[in-house]
Amino acid sequence: MHFTKPSPPSDDKRWRIVEATMRRHGYDHNALIETLHSVQQTFGYLDTEALQYVAKALRVPLSKVYGVATFYHFFTLKPQGEHTCVVCMGTACYIKGAPHVVAAISEKYQIQPGETTADGKLSLLTARCIGACGLAPAVVFDGEVAGKVTPEEALQRIGRWTDQ
Ligand code: FES
Repeated sequence: MHFTKPSPPSDDKRWRIVEATMRRHGYDHNALIETLHSVQQTFGYLDTEALQYVAKALRVPLSKVYGVATFYHFFTLKPQGEHTCVVCMGTACYIKGAPHVVAAISEKYQIQPGETTADGKLSLLTARCIGACGLAPAVVFDGEVAGKVTPEEALQRIGRWTDQ
């Protein structure tokens, strides 16, 4: 049967990570949980648009996608922090110092990857390769990819959000 892949809900580069997960599983409907994990890991939560997109791409009824997303407590259905910072921890980024970036943010804001600051301003997330290895270490600040990010730069950038 001929099947045209739906396009992601936005040009946010993070959708590439989600697409890569689905591609790896041949867009099989059994990859639903894995795909939702990938959305949650990269965006920090699942929203309606993401659920609709995943449902279409994997050809799974939307009701089932909602069922799975609400059944497992590890999925979050609403935005967490006002801003999100995703540090790529894929091999290239890891070697080029991504762990230092994560450590600096964790220490300054007292959050671990996957957590949000108490004031709700910042969520820190990590991802596997986001397809920008030439820019290692790569960090996605609110959907915008930045390359060769040092811990100082990351803190500076986040400071612009949190100091407001
Ligand atoms: S490993 Fe980070 S972009 Fe590829």
